[in-house]
Amino acid sequence: ARRSFIRGTGSYLPTKVLTNNDLSKMVDTSDEWIVERTGIRQRHVAAEGEMTSDIATAAARDALAAAGLTPADVDLIVLGTTTPDQTFPATATAVQAKLGMTGGAAFDVQAVCSGFLFALSTADAMLKQGLFNTAIVIGAETFTRLLDWSDRGTCVLFGDGGGAVVLQAEEWDGAEDQGVITHHIRTDGTKSDLLYVDGGVSSTGTIGHVRMEGNRVFRHAVTNISAAIQAVLDETGLTIEDIDWFVPHQANKRILDAVAKKMNIDDEKVIITVDKHANTSAASIPLALNHAVRTGRAKKGDLVLSEAMGGGFSWGASLFRL
Ligand code: ACO
Repeated sequence: ARRSFIRGTGSYLPTKVLTNNDLSKMVDTSDEWIVERTGIRQRHVAAEGEMTSDIATAAARDALAAAGLTPADVDLIVLGTTTPDQTFPATATAVQAKLGMTGGAAFDVQAVCSGFLFALSTADAMLKQGLFNTAIVIGAETFTRLLDWSDRGTCVLFGDGGGAVVLQAEEWDGAEDQGVITHHIRTDGTKSDLLYVDGGVSSTGTIGHVRMEGNRVFRHAVTNISAAIQAVLDETGLTIEDIDWFVPHQANKRILDAVAKKMNIDDEKVIITVDKHANTSAASIPLALNHAVRTGRAKKGDLVLSEAMGGGFSWGASLFRL
């Protein structure tokens, strides 16, 4: 049977860093409040003119280099993003052009903070089906462009960045627990009023800003992320102890801690980058994964469970062996 394998990871962060102290000069907040409530200490912010496709392309190049492959080897790009360069064409096609690719196919997937897992599961399914052979799966955002900088309840939480993985399909008759193993992907459209953007092409004709009922989102996040982890364990017969690394979406340190407590996850196994990156939406999982790989914590052969929850609501989990 065909199976997909992760050949390399990569990431890119804009150079400009905005600290909590910088923010305290813009809105009525403080480093103490932000650190205590979220664990966030700083975030990267895209430069003027720096677009999601630039960030995504840089992350893709980094992942290709790690995989020892070139754009000519790639026939699929799936980009999870909520902050496209333009309403159309898909930002993934801009990445395709910037990488110098003239073949294959490229498209975007929109599931906000769960976007990377929706993109990964989509690419994995297409590779397994035999439609394509080598994919770059990217999560990239210029999320700060959606922020209302006068709303201290949201503007302190987010940042910009991108991460990518290279997936390659192979005929595989070996053990079932190798490569990309399984995904659990869900949405609930009835909860959209708790986290959304108050604009869009067909509603207001404007871009709009992020609106959120933070503490209600917080409770749903803990419940849904825990349920997604449990669904993967039930499907595979694995236990929490079998997982080497948890690479969650990075929204808030307190959400990560609450999930770890609820599911009896050893804190040492949870990769945390929210302190440095803040919430980068679809980019946060591949950014955290690449951080875990490049710092030498997550090694080839390790079993990784990634989980996320975001607007929609959308949520999910993906299990793979590096
Ligand atoms: N600085 C100082 N005070 C603030 C700030 C700020 N930046 N923001 C809010 N406050 C104030 C509020 O006005 C409120 O004041 P009041 O009591 O006088 O009314 C007080 O702090 C407490 O506000 P709460 O919203 O109840 O604080 P809470 O402990 O819930 O923390 C937070 C807020 C950090 C937003 C939290 O609810 C959260 O992280 N929720 C998860 C939402 C999230 O991460 N969403 C991202 C997308 S979804 C996802 O990725 C999971």
